[in-house]
Amino acid sequence: MSPGKKRKEKADRLRDALKVVCGFDEHSESIVNILKQQHYWFDSNIDNEYGPHTLIKLMFLWYYTDIAIKIAGKHFSKLVFIDTFSGGGLVKIEDTDYVCLGSPLIPVISTLKMTSEGRKGFDEIILIDNDKNKIALLENRLNAIRKNLSLNLKYTTLIGDSNTLIQSQHILNSVDKNTYVLIFVDPEGLEPKLPSYLPLLDKVSGSDIILNSSWGLRRLAGTTSLAEQLIREYLGKYDADRPIEQQLDEVFRKEFGKEVGVSIYVKDISNRPLYTLILRVRRTSSGSEWIEGMKNFVDKVLSKYTTRDIKLFLDQLAGNQTSIDKFLKK
Ligand SMILES: C[S@@+](CC[C@H](N)C(=O)[O-])C[C@H]1O[C@@H](n2cnc3c(N)ncnc32)[C@H](O)[C@@H]1O
Repeated sequence: MSPGKKRKEKADRLRDALKVVCGFDEHSESIVNILKQQHYWFDSNIDNEYGPHTLIKLMFLWYYTDIAIKIAGKHFSKLVFIDTFSGGGLVKIEDTDYVCLGSPLIPVISTLKMTSEGRKGFDEIILIDNDKNKIALLENRLNAIRKNLSLNLKYTTLIGDSNTLIQSQHILNSVDKNTYVLIFVDPEGLEPKLPSYLPLLDKVSGSDIILNSSWGLRRLAGTTSLAEQLIREYLGKYDADRPIEQQLDEVFRKEFGKEVGVSIYVKDISNRPLYTLILRVRRTSSGSEWIEGMKNFVDKVLSKYTTRDIKLFLDQLAGNQTSIDKFLKK
């Protein structure tokens, strides 16, 4: 295969994922059209707005959701997606007019795709945010999507601190040993307290977690005693003499029982590190079945492009740039 051909394949894979999260593929476009028609499109007073690096997060989530739903559907009777920092369902890309689908709509797209192929999608999505306006808007959006697409997907929304709600009977009663849960933890900073996820993880036999782990954690390490306390709450314990990365890895391995994983450093458009996206999957001999495709996508596609490149891809999809291949000499 010529190098030119290889480059095209990688760019195509990136473009395909971007199309899904930004409303340029069949299923996400139908969601965009419904939200626009029903006047539930972007609300600048309520919805979140982030730099183009957020596209990396959404593509990462989409790609793994698509893998997990196919495998989990064969092994578990109930599939649940829990988003502990959901936002309102749409995200605007800063300094642009682009609005993309936020994390709570990603499992909806996966379910639409699976159902259209006659396969099992998510049975329930549980969405938590401490902002009641975001949750109200998200409910309106989900109702409009379900009604217009005749989608049989149960959703539950919860308003409040996700560290408390993730341990609530409401959530613990929604799952049992035959449930697979994909948990997406996407805070702005150091809000999560990882030990609060343990009761849920202990209750199910199949669970995977994607954590947006802020670089603030690394920057705070070794600064003040307040910072130390914050890190201790985040990790559950903290030894100031050892690297944070090592201790976070121990939480995943020892407390969560999740040995296998894939991660990517997410940088802003000026190449400054913002957070690490960490996917960790359950500890079984079949862990590789869940992780291989994701590892390939992250190593061979997602990590090969800068945030600036990805923004250029979006310009191209939106028709604001006719050809970008000359900029992307990867
Ligand atoms: C990074 S944004 C989430 C973006 C969203 N996942 C997406 O892809 O569109 C973080 C969200 O967490 C919410 N939030 C902040 N602290 C929280 C807490 N302790 N519990 C629940 N939600 C919280 C904020 O209102 C905000 O919408």
